[in-house]
Amino acid sequence: MNLATDKMVPLVMALSVALLALTACNGNGNAVATAPAPRKQVLSMPAQVGQLAFFDKNLSSGRNMSCASCHDPQYAYGPPNSISVQLGSDIKQTGARAVPSLRYKESTPPFSEDAPNPDGVTSNSPGGGFMWDGRGTTTMAAQAALPLLNPVEMNNSSKEAVVKAVQNGAYAGLFKQTFGANVFDNTDAAFDALGTAIQALETEDLSFHPYSSKYDLYVFNKIGGVLTPAERRGEVLFHSTGVTNCSGCHYTGANFNGNSGLMTDFTYQALGAPRNDRSIPNNPDPIPANDDPAYFDMGLCGPFRTDYMPAPGKAHPYCGMFKVPVLRNAATRGAFFHNGVLHSLEQVVNFYNTRDTNPEYWYPSHGDGTGKPQANPVWALQPTAVPGATVDKYNDLPPVQQGNVDEEMPMGTGEGGEKTLASGTKPRAPGATPVMTPQQIADLVCFLGTLSDGYQPSSAPSASGRCVK
Ligand code: HEC
Ligand code: HEC
Repeated sequence: MNLATDKMVPLVMALSVALLALTACNGNGNAVATAPAPRKQVLSMPAQVGQLAFFDKNLSSGRNMSCASCHDPQYAYGPPNSISVQLGSDIKQTGARAVPSLRYKESTPPFSEDAPNPDGVTSNSPGGGFMWDGRGTTTMAAQAALPLLNPVEMNNSSKEAVVKAVQNGAYAGLFKQTFGANVFDNTDAAFDALGTAIQALETEDLSFHPYSSKYDLYVFNKIGGVLTPAERRGEVLFHSTGVTNCSGCHYTGANFNGNSGLMTDFTYQALGAPRNDRSIPNNPDPIPANDDPAYFDMGLCGPFRTDYMPAPGKAHPYCGMFKVPVLRNAATRGAFFHNGVLHSLEQVVNFYNTRDTNPEYWYPSHGDGTGKPQANPVWALQPTAVPGATVDKYNDLPPVQQGNVDEEMPMGTGEGGEKTLASGTKPRAPGATPVMTPQQIADLVCFLGTLSDGYQPSSAPSASGRCVK
């Protein structure tokens, strides 16, 4: 990890704002407990408009949903519940993807098929852009049009309907003052101005990038001892190329705008997440679109983006790829991966650990096994499995696209692999010992917990709790 670069200066400045309210450290490195004074931030006029728009339910067809309904500031601008995919404004239709947090999006470069990797080593690949599939290709301003007009989100029939709602709303005056007295005369210009306003909010407002986690205090302020032994072990594991390789994709170094520790390299990867459908027993919220066995959400190659769609029956190297998410505030989420199929961090880390050694934990199997069904661990998606049954591995991708799934992730070095990958490592065969121990999984989850914003340092660290020792 090389964080000591001059690119960090803007971050350090942002942090010093965040830390302004903290008094000096006491002698042994623990920050003294002083409640930070509430920060008063002066937003530009476009950002003030953006703030009113972000919380404005009139911008949805049913007047029942604002951006904040799905991107809730109390939940790091992510979803306020653990439902896999949220209901849209018309209440009848659900979306097909989990709601991402809107924090730390200001560093996202535009989508490019040939994007440089921020680590400066990995070769260029598809990277950048907004949405799980990068189809919000350019700016957050242009991106705002997507939810406003999406039938499964805010469900407006036209730009005109949105502009009318602003024009008839409480902040029409401020909108005109900001974007010109005649701004409502031209629907396209007014709609674009609304996008500009929301982007101004998302980039300016410190609550969209507070850098106020325990991890920030630890890494950037170099306060030794702020991480507990369990969190520190988790951090080391997160960076270990031999064991987890987490930071190989969830990159922690300086990003393109100089900020560090976002935990993404903005690339697209295929992990083979299980299909979120009724093949999972007791599934609380299967994705309705998945009732159609011919429907597949393949990320970069469709169906929501259409520029990399595969020819019928042919493989395309991008099918199954989704954006590497920012892991900050992941611990405050209740639905993980693009289809929200997993519901806890423990489950996510166990998925990485056992996808290849025990696929029967995650994917449905055919009934050709022998003997009685055996109980799977509590965190598995499939509660039981019949020994010897054929597992429908990677069941959320058509068979012809399954070769894209990353077999090196996160640890192809385990024993028992039947073939050697280009890098010289081996995928782990079914039945091999998973590479991480339960203790290591617990430590990783503890480390991920340090990435949540709003950490309040205390002079007396608590003496109990699962992440202490
Ligand atoms: C019904 C829930 C819902 C509402 C309302 C909603 N969004 Fe979203 N938002 C989503 C989902 C789901 C995604 C991911 C969609 C995808 O990847 O296809 C998303 C993605 C995004 C992204 C991209 C984030 C990333 O990680 O690339 C931005 C930015 C965003 N929304 C902003 C907004 C704004 C601004 C509004 C209000 C104008 C809004 N959203 C309203 C559900 C919602
Ligand atoms: C090969 C690249 C790669 C590696 C290595 C990797 N990840 Fe991921 N991670 C991803 C991608 C891509 C997704 C999203 C997958 C999807 O939605 O289908 C993801 C999703 C996640 C999520 C869910 C976040 C959310 O908001 O839904 C967590 C948590 C996570 N990874 C943690 C880890 C940990 C811990 C490790 C190491 C054990 C790790 N990852 C290794 C690429 C990677």
